[in-house]
Amino acid sequence: MCGIVGYIGPRQAAGLLLEGLRRMEYRGYDSAGIAVVNGHGLEITKAAGKVTMLELELEGKMPTGTLGIGHTRWATHGAPTTPNAHPHTDQSGRIAVIHNGIIENSSAIRKTLERRGHTFKSETDTEVLAHLVGEYYSGDLEEAVAAALREVDGAYGLAIISADEPGVLVAARKGSPLLVGVGENEWFVASDASPLLQYTRSVVYLDDGEMVVLSRDGYRVRNLETTRISKPVNQIEWDLAMVERNGYPHFMLKEICEQPESLHNTLRGHLLEEEGTARVTGLNLSDDQLKQVERIVITACGTSWHSALIGEYMLEEMARIPVEVEYASEFRYRNPVVDHRTLVIGISQSGETADTLAAIREAKRRGARTVGLVNVVGSTIAREVDGGIYLHAGPEVGVASTKAFTSQVAALALVTLRIARLRNLSILQGREFIQGLRLLPAQIARILERSSELEHLAERFLGTATNALYLGRGVNFPVALEGALKLKEISYIHAEGYPAAEMKHGPIALIDENMPVVFIAPKDAVHSKIVSNIEEVKARGGKVIALINEGDTEIERLADATFTIPVTLDLLTPILTSIPLQLLSYYVAVARGCNVDQPRNLAKSVTVE
Ligand code: M6R
Repeated sequence: MCGIVGYIGPRQAAGLLLEGLRRMEYRGYDSAGIAVVNGHGLEITKAAGKVTMLELELEGKMPTGTLGIGHTRWATHGAPTTPNAHPHTDQSGRIAVIHNGIIENSSAIRKTLERRGHTFKSETDTEVLAHLVGEYYSGDLEEAVAAALREVDGAYGLAIISADEPGVLVAARKGSPLLVGVGENEWFVASDASPLLQYTRSVVYLDDGEMVVLSRDGYRVRNLETTRISKPVNQIEWDLAMVERNGYPHFMLKEICEQPESLHNTLRGHLLEEEGTARVTGLNLSDDQLKQVERIVITACGTSWHSALIGEYMLEEMARIPVEVEYASEFRYRNPVVDHRTLVIGISQSGETADTLAAIREAKRRGARTVGLVNVVGSTIAREVDGGIYLHAGPEVGVASTKAFTSQVAALALVTLRIARLRNLSILQGREFIQGLRLLPAQIARILERSSELEHLAERFLGTATNALYLGRGVNFPVALEGALKLKEISYIHAEGYPAAEMKHGPIALIDENMPVVFIAPKDAVHSKIVSNIEEVKARGGKVIALINEGDTEIERLADATFTIPVTLDLLTPILTSIPLQLLSYYVAVARGCNVDQPRNLAKSVTVE
């Protein structure tokens, strides 16, 4: 959701900023721009569209200068045009601002400034902020930014430079992520670590209400008043190779194929075979505290919400504890019933999703204990929860979430195992569950080896489809939702996920010979029921593609095509059944010529509400 990057140091800034924007493009790709300070003042170049459009614009005229800022945009206020692209300047044209977030009182400020003679070139809230900083500027950028920010409501991660101060970059954060990269005599600011990894792995995470002033001598963190704040320097574990495609045509395919390893990494160090339980000390909850939990609420968005639904099945089945799953965007607006006996679990790959963060904050305000299942180390959610489990899935760059999903389900399995063993699960059942978890990475690898089968299925059934239905029951109902989301977000085919039995209450009307219906039908407790649902679809001419266990001749006879998955415990099947669905949607999108890693209108990290 908009990526920002800034640099001050001895290197030429423009190329470095462009490279940084390329790495952050997954955060938004509606337009891009850079501003560099040099002997001529401020040189700004911007272009509508992806970063490649900006590169074309800069061809043969890269600005020189060792201080600069860059932005890749996911449009909120104003269409994705060049005038609306960042950086935006103040009335004098000497101060440049890049911004991720929304300034909520920008209309009022704009009107006041217009009355004072300001004219605006764009429809953006960011340009209003640039003008406001300019209005306060009298030779001290740091103080002008602080004064302007004291007047604005809303969310921001921003970076600001001025032609009149070629040795200063000011950045600030409230509600949108921002970190400082600490190099050797050079400093960076960025929305996430990906643009810095090439130069440094030492970072300082800014918190809400903090500003940082970078100069050629170092950096200083303060609040909007004048108080200086001392911050720890953290070391990032990820390296450059992890955020590159490494020969894969798309990040999404790379990330799908990484799942044997990412899943292994999520589980590593957590499984206690002998005791038949999980070690999850990161939750920061004693056995007694866990036993006192009366209810669990899991909150998340998108794919992470689907993993939460799987967690609900696991926790209720194994730990016999009531669980509710809430869309984070709804949670805090509906007066939720949570108190100190409620455990609230927030799930987020990025750890920056604004809705999930807001839900966590609301749960804390109401006295609940909060836990995060988060992939990005040091992200805001990870820092704000009372405890949690890092997924250790490695960076996920493709906008369509894949490996984070299976790792989230695995992390939920760890939480489930821990709580269930404290309540009613026997040591033998615990050991059996661990055995099931341990086998999963190799079982995923076996599925991946047969990905060409899915490529053929994609072509045969979905290549020309305009609609698709995904049906599953029990713990595989959320997998149906996830399969449908994967298809629609990267191939733009309309797809719905449904509980298979619910189909006859409405969606069955859609079924005809043009409707591909994907059934998730492993041989589990509800297998015989799903066989009946397949019959119902076949009776109406629908085309059935079924995910089944090896040797399931009953469904093989009924379905138009099948893909087999290895046998695992019922509750763990989602980790296996989701993989072929990820591949299916990937191959459909590729066949249709869609931009797999950067689907239209989407951004990887949704940092606005
Ligand atoms: O980073 P998060 O897990 O909090 O993100 C939540 C959703 O925005 C995300 O899962 C989104 O639905 C993906 N595009 C799904 O592929």
